[in-house]
Amino acid sequence: MPEEVEVGPLSELSPGTVVGAGHYAVGNADEIFAVSRRCRHLYADLAGGTVDEEGCLVCPWHGAKYNTKTGRMVRGPQGIFAKIPGLGTAFKALTLVLPLRRGKVVERDGILFVE
Ligand code: FES
Repeated sequence: MPEEVEVGPLSELSPGTVVGAGHYAVGNADEIFAVSRRCRHLYADLAGGTVDEEGCLVCPWHGAKYNTKTGRMVRGPQGIFAKIPGLGTAFKALTLVLPLRRGKVVERDGILFVE
């Protein structure tokens, strides 16, 4: 049986919210998602990230964006990193092979768990 980690009450995970639960960042992007917490760029904790208007998870450090359904980076690191030729493309390609791991979120009696 897979190990489960309690996330918390579903009612507290309002749209746009992201929280940490064990090794996962769990959020509400219209659908509840769970992805591994460490950004593929410099390992920022994605549980401190945000959900943008497109439903992507945005890294709190340099703004890389992830598709929460596939775990793939859809926009590379921003700021000074965006000026490095090919860097964003390289990280996006990396996540084609090594996307963020997706967890399965289940709800029981109003409480979310990720496995
Ligand atoms: S650590 Fe996430 S974009 Fe840099």
